[in-house]
Amino acid sequence: MILVICDTHCYFDMVNRQIEYAESSVGRDVSCVIHLGDFGIYRSHLHDFFVKKNKRFRRPLYFIDGNHEDFDALPWLIKKYEECFTYLQRGTVHTIAGYRFLALGGTAYMDSMITQKGAVITDQQINECLGIPGDAVDIILTHDCPAGIGVPNTPGLEHFGDTGFPRSGELAAHFKPKLWLFGHHHKWHSYQDCHTAYYGLCGAWKGFGILDDHYRFTIMKHTLEWEKTPFIEKILIKLKIIRPDAPPQ
Ligand SMILES: [Fe+2]
Repeated sequence: MILVICDTHCYFDMVNRQIEYAESSVGRDVSCVIHLGDFGIYRSHLHDFFVKKNKRFRRPLYFIDGNHEDFDALPWLIKKYEECFTYLQRGTVHTIAGYRFLALGGTAYMDSMITQKGAVITDQQINECLGIPGDAVDIILTHDCPAGIGVPNTPGLEHFGDTGFPRSGELAAHFKPKLWLFGHHHKWHSYQDCHTAYYGLCGAWKGFGILDDHYRFTIMKHTLEWEKTPFIEKILIKLKIIRPDAPPQ
């Protein structure tokens, strides 16, 4: 079974704690972890967890990028830590545990204050996805949600308009995936249309999903206590981009 999680925002140990919980409550081993972005690609936090504390994830971990990563440093940080986790580049397909996943990290543009350079999904990246044969993908992995599936806005962020990234409907129509999994909004959400079951995950501190055989996807809610606030969170709180009790999307 695959554990699907998102929005750790540098709290990497949450992944291991949720793996432990999943394995003890289900009674089976997690084969690998898929992380749906806002993983926390920041040099100091990676160094602290993987070098200073010499920790590792309990299972192989694959991740797509979100909007809160250091995009300038991402290429060399994923290389430096390639033995600790694997990055799934935007617009690429990966076979994991028998499923073919299309990876598309990033988000829709929000505004210049809180949308980092490199975070926005570009037209070119959508075009690259659409260049992949429609029958070559079983499951789509995104950080932001597709448009038009009713993901509610976060209170205070309504001015960004309806949720969902542009041209996501073209991907749905082209691939007709069995599943589409996303994070970013810190809300549990599910929606079904004639081809696709959509699941939005809450942050890693609230739980995760289990992807099993035959596309069976189960949400497991399990709240973890927060650890000490990492440096980046302190900055975001200071800039009033997030509240202390509400991590960034
Ligand atoms: Fe996000």
